Amino acid sequence: MYPIKRNRRLRTNAAIRAMVRETTLSTDDLMAPLFVVEGDKIKEEISSMPDYFRFSLDLLQEEVKELWELGIKSVLLFVKVPDELKDNLGTEALNPDGLMQRAIKLVKSTIPEMQVFTDVALDPYSSYGHDGIVENGDILNDESVEVLAKMALSHAAAGADFVAPSDMMDGRILKMRELMEKEGFKNTGIMSYSAKYASAFYGPFRDALDSAPGFGDKKTYQMDPANRTEALRETHMDIEEGADIVMVKPGLCYLDIVRDIKNNFEIPIAVYQVSGEYAMIKAAAQKGWLDHDAVMMEQALAIKRAGADIIATYFAKDLAKILKP
Ligand code: PBG
Repeated sequence: MYPIKRNRRLRTNAAIRAMVRETTLSTDDLMAPLFVVEGDKIKEEISSMPDYFRFSLDLLQEEVKELWELGIKSVLLFVKVPDELKDNLGTEALNPDGLMQRAIKLVKSTIPEMQVFTDVALDPYSSYGHDGIVENGDILNDESVEVLAKMALSHAAAGADFVAPSDMMDGRILKMRELMEKEGFKNTGIMSYSAKYASAFYGPFRDALDSAPGFGDKKTYQMDPANRTEALRETHMDIEEGADIVMVKPGLCYLDIVRDIKNNFEIPIAVYQVSGEYAMIKAAAQKGWLDHDAVMMEQALAIKRAGADIIATYFAKDLAKILKP
């Protein structure tokens, strides 16, 4: 009791603060999302994501080398698919020579140790911009899962280390696991977007890939932001079905969910600090209203403190530049 107990003693100087610090960030925690486009020498800035770019494969190679040199050990690949290749069934997603499949090979041949995670969902390939197959305005579950499992297999065959299903269909983890086992990809892992909320923070991402839903919204498959126990149910099922890593998405608004999962399951947790979260910090910093680096570090630290083992973030490079010893 005061004055015997004075908590400020442990905050007196930088050395003691460092010694009692409970959470630390490292470049080992970071995963860098990458947007890939067809073409040559393309590095185009995404208008709603300042300082973030879409790369053609040639320039992607340079970017991946730079990330590796900064100490970033994983990338999460997304592709922007030309409109003429989009259809309702996501046919192009299974093309063994498609942009995603070529991107996987390119990253693995550039830096073999780089852990390649791939987005598995139909939205970039869908003429409707939905994550599954559409019929009479519904997003079909089981039919979509069949395609998604084949898509995961195709990424595994191209050399992905982990597939990352972001679609939120029921039962997709089990189907992917079964198919990959059957086809001999027993070492290809699954990072499941297990608690993915129907969030307005995905707006800039949909600009980046031109993948906004053509009708309706994603509320019949992504989770209601009001729900908490449902996240545990989703996560539990994905673990039972064979997920190696589970994910909570978005980040900052959902850190209570991250902590719930940390307290209930023994499995690595990834948190996706999504495009809207990135855009807000960039915009406020551009206006001079917030200190970019300080806010970026504080948010990443909060995500880690909540229980994240992996942080997928558009700030990966900026963070790594600061964190690198
Ligand atoms: C696609 C997907 C989305 C994001 C990751 N994978 C968009 C969506 O579900 O609509 C969002 C990522 C971000 O906003 O940074 N299924």
